[in-house]
Amino acid sequence: MSGTNNATAATRVVSTISELRGLLAERRAGGASVALVPTMGALHDGHLALVRRARDLADLVVVSIFVNPLQFGPAEDLDRYPRTLDADVAALAALGVELVFAPSATEMYPDGRSSTSVVAGSVGGLYEGASRPGHFDGMLTVVAKLFNIVAPEFAVFGQKDAQQVFLVRRMVRDLDVPIAIDVVPTVREHDGLALSSRNRFLDEAARETALVLSEALGAAADSAGEGPAEALAEAAAAFGDHDGAELDYFVIVDPETLLPVAGDATGPALAIVAARVGVTRLIDNRTIQLG
Ligand code: PAF
Repeated sequence: MSGTNNATAATRVVSTISELRGLLAERRAGGASVALVPTMGALHDGHLALVRRARDLADLVVVSIFVNPLQFGPAEDLDRYPRTLDADVAALAALGVELVFAPSATEMYPDGRSSTSVVAGSVGGLYEGASRPGHFDGMLTVVAKLFNIVAPEFAVFGQKDAQQVFLVRRMVRDLDVPIAIDVVPTVREHDGLALSSRNRFLDEAARETALVLSEALGAAADSAGEGPAEALAEAAAAFGDHDGAELDYFVIVDPETLLPVAGDATGPALAIVAARVGVTRLIDNRTIQLG
């Protein structure tokens, strides 16, 4: 069976590693540079912003669409995670993306799961990693595989997943991976809600409640001049005003280390937040200026 479909004349959806490598070798022989946008599909405007950035960076854009089982815990939403391949490919075709890599789980993990994995280290156990044990090991393992399969000059990620970006950058540095990591700012709805594939699970009431994440970040930013304790107190107060949102964490971290800032810290810091709204877990973050 062929691993290729022609979604449009210009967009090829490839499901096997060997076919993808063959196509990439042809394009590289013609001198093309390559940018990879790794995704799990269910694409929204935030992903499309990554694709536009990738187009600016390189001659050829590869978008991977793979819901990676390794980064979901046993009680998480792997089965429920939205899968919208046809719509995703149509959106990518409209942007002129030439290659979509959409492998099966068996193609990526022929033995069920890889027995070798990337370990995210201590920062991988904090925040998202504390709530989702093993998540970042699974994420880094599939990102490393995608980097090895595509061997791009550039890879583009979204700032919404701030801890993911931090860990990918650190993996690239620690393992001397010759890929430039490019990060695109979070795309938001008109009212501040960060775009996320999981937003489609929010009904009208939950959608309203979900605004608490960006509101808490805004409250922290507004009071950051008075120091981290005041910023955290204002963020907590924003959550206090919303029923229906269960705060997981709200932390102000040093962007260089991702560790919580000291009580007397000044200068730029990153406020990161995660909360459960109904059954949907959402994350967001914002740079703030501590005074
Ligand atoms: O951000 C995501 O969608 C995923 O974590 C990624 C980077 C595609 C790896 O599965």
